[in-house]
Amino acid sequence: MSFSNRSRSVLPFKAMQMMAAANALEEAGRRVIHLEVGQPDFSAPECVRRKALEVVQAGRMGYSNAEGLPELREAIASFYQQRFGIEIPSRRVLITAGASGALALLIPLLTDPGEGWLLPDPGYPSYRHFVSAYGCEPQALRLRAENEFQPSSCQIEQHWKSNTRALVLASPSNPAGTQIDESLARDLIEVVRHRGGHVVADEIYQGVNPDGQPLPTTLSHANDAFIVNSFSKYFGMTGWRLGWMVVPESAVDPLIRLAQNLFICPSVVAQAAAVAAFSPEAIAEADARSTELNRKRALMINGLLDIGFDVPARPEGAFYVFARLPESMPNAEVFCQRALEEVGVAVTPGTDFGEYRTERYVRLSCAQPETLLLEAIERLRVLVE
Ligand SMILES: Cc1ncc(COP(=O)(O)O)c(C=O)c1O
Repeated sequence: MSFSNRSRSVLPFKAMQMMAAANALEEAGRRVIHLEVGQPDFSAPECVRRKALEVVQAGRMGYSNAEGLPELREAIASFYQQRFGIEIPSRRVLITAGASGALALLIPLLTDPGEGWLLPDPGYPSYRHFVSAYGCEPQALRLRAENEFQPSSCQIEQHWKSNTRALVLASPSNPAGTQIDESLARDLIEVVRHRGGHVVADEIYQGVNPDGQPLPTTLSHANDAFIVNSFSKYFGMTGWRLGWMVVPESAVDPLIRLAQNLFICPSVVAQAAAVAAFSPEAIAEADARSTELNRKRALMINGLLDIGFDVPARPEGAFYVFARLPESMPNAEVFCQRALEEVGVAVTPGTDFGEYRTERYVRLSCAQPETLLLEAIERLRVLVE
């Protein structure tokens, strides 16, 4: 059977492949420490879980509107008001099946096949795979550790081609966890506006940054940007498959049309329960967990430095460490294979995140209990030494 060129251009998501290999080892009786996937080791806030049970018991599980339940859209709009002092009508908030669902709608909204997306390299792998799946062109912005793995406005000028239509910014970023400071964000957005392009700001790790200090959202300086967010990380709800977008008014109806056809609607149980995520109780729980993740990140960085890794761009948010391998170690893909097979530690090769100098990097997630993180460092020490 032959399949489309587009499907062939979509490469495997290596973190997911690594997880499958680690699961297979576990099924065969081995013990593995999982540092490969971006999944918090905590669950949804307690009041969200309680609410989900109530919703299921009440049997409220039909379709919702494609754009989501009005009460959840309103809760999110109020959250922007309370947290960032930004007034947005709830009409501009659209609920999606995770940040992934938002990307699956924004790419066909903003681009036709053959048009280009400027994407961070290293960056979240699925950006380029989504773009390819829609027949568009991923255009890599080669990011350097010395620039905190964030783009500069000159770079955007240089890489903007005649078919480029949009730029993805991610802050805190995945895999490096670095942030874009506000003045740089303004400059980048200005360059894109000048070119008549669109900015998609992936803010999925917002809230998972030092001392629970929420980063300013790109919305505060770019009302015309497309903001992507999710319940997966800050609220610890990866498997609930729920996220949201805040979009310019003119994009609301076209996005609803796409969402109606592509997804019908996001999970209604998850949506109804997620309203409780914005209660003061749940926010306090999520902030406390972020503080915990920050502590674990610091612990992981120290442990890795101690065994000969380098962390040239220190993460300020998210829950990863993007670490450079010691010189004595083989390239990332071989290293990850050996780490899994020889010492039972699953980590993701840097090459998952792009092609630019990524073969000497690995990404480790710190969202595991502290004892496991310390054990993982000791196991890696054995491999390195
Ligand atoms: C930067 C980034 N964007 C988007 C996603 C997709 O997240 P979800 O679909 O679970 O909301 C992830 C998941 O790890 C991510 O790291």
